[in-house]
Amino acid sequence: MNTPPLDDSDAPRQPLTDSAGSGRDTEPGPISSQASQPVDAANSHSGTPSAAKPPRSTRPKYERELSNFVSLTCDLALGRTEWKSRPYYIEYSTNSACNLRCIMCSQVEDPPVVSTPLELQEPFLEEIFQLATVLTPSATSEPLLNNLNRLLPLMEEHGVFMDVITNAVLLTPELTERLIPRMQRLTLSIDSHKKDVFEKLRAPAEFEQVVEHARFATRLCRENSIPVIFHMVLAIDCMDGLEDYVDFVAEMSGTQITVLELLHNSPNFSELDPFASMSDAQVAERLEAMRARAQLRGVSVLFEVHAPMGARYDYGFQSVRAHTGSALEMMHGELAIEHAGFCPMVMGYFKVEPDGTSYPCCRAPRELMLGNVFEQGVEGVWNGAPMRELRQRMFDRDYPECCKGCVVLDAPRYQSEAREREAKQLESESKPSTSE
Ligand SMILES: C[S@@+](CC[C@H](N)C(=O)[O-])C[C@H]1O[C@@H](n2cnc3c(N)ncnc32)[C@H](O)[C@@H]1O
Ligand code: SF4
Ligand code: SF4
Repeated sequence: MNTPPLDDSDAPRQPLTDSAGSGRDTEPGPISSQASQPVDAANSHSGTPSAAKPPRSTRPKYERELSNFVSLTCDLALGRTEWKSRPYYIEYSTNSACNLRCIMCSQVEDPPVVSTPLELQEPFLEEIFQLATVLTPSATSEPLLNNLNRLLPLMEEHGVFMDVITNAVLLTPELTERLIPRMQRLTLSIDSHKKDVFEKLRAPAEFEQVVEHARFATRLCRENSIPVIFHMVLAIDCMDGLEDYVDFVAEMSGTQITVLELLHNSPNFSELDPFASMSDAQVAERLEAMRARAQLRGVSVLFEVHAPMGARYDYGFQSVRAHTGSALEMMHGELAIEHAGFCPMVMGYFKVEPDGTSYPCCRAPRELMLGNVFEQGVEGVWNGAPMRELRQRMFDRDYPECCKGCVVLDAPRYQSEAREREAKQLESESKPSTSE
């Protein structure tokens, strides 16, 4: 099948202040190089072959999800490379638009917006939602620029929950309220508690607006037992006062922080990379100060940073509302610990770019490209030769170059280490003191 040209780089320009994503019935055209006409319309060429809607199963969704999970446990236990299970977590946005140009992100290069032709979107979502439990609508883009008027009802119909990772600029209180019923988890990307650092990294976002949105959303999520994570990208500008960042999060009633090692995603990488000017030991010292403050403030921290600094410390408690999404995510977490060494994303994650190119993980190294779902179909990619080979390599612990040292691969290990620390702590607290 031929897909039409997908980018709209020749489209007219539009100001940055576009309020797309707030629920109107078209796709956005949000930023300088991006279309002033709806992105979907711009890419909806009349010559596109229209995909037929797949038939729907009559079996209840929760039964299909549980049976899919059992299939996965068998796929792993039996060392199969052709899997019966299907992805439970989907990363897919209908467009690659973003309203910011963060200097550590590839969006800083003002890439053309790519979007899935309108007629392919729904059949694909209908197919993938048959077994999927969670959707994160991102493509190195801003998820709130998806057409939520179309997406939310479809998710509701299929019992799919949304994992929202957002820059929070468009996350108004009204939008937060709309998202709550379908929200699996909210991640707020706020790299610094300092206005000048934040605005340098996340142009053209305004610190006060983002903090106001984040404060409201954190409170509402907490009231609804929806986990909230604060994401900080570890850039050199963030290294001073990491402890104060913990206070900033705690004061917003946040209980979880993830510190992300800076990836080489933008031309500014070498200027921003703390490891270019600091030794591992110096970075480790700053992270330790952050950890100590997190312990004091009851905030959990996950350092998604290369070994030996990578670790997870569970100091904060967040109640989680019970639904199939939260239960399945916990089950997948347990399975990942059980099979530590086999990338947890390769177990059930599926990333599809708006043009259909697919990857086994959110990091999406070109080397791991699996194929194109709009050309080969979901099954053709999910059980295609590149995916089967990757699974075999995961079973053999014979990792592709791009997986070596990957923090995602190490994450289940950090989790089991955190449990061991907790068990030892409990044991030492329960022992009678010898000085008594
Ligand atoms: C690419 S963004 C997409 C979602 C949304 N636009 C946002 O910023 O939250 C997903 C996550 O990647 C993080 N990120 C951006 N650039 C990064 C980099 N160079 N290295 C590591 N993480 C990065 C962001 O902070 C965000 O938490
Ligand atoms: S990090 Fe997120 S908000 Fe910033 S430019 Fe990239 S996609 Fe946009
Ligand atoms: S180890 Fe890292 S790069 Fe490799 S598949 Fe997993 S997440 Fe992707």
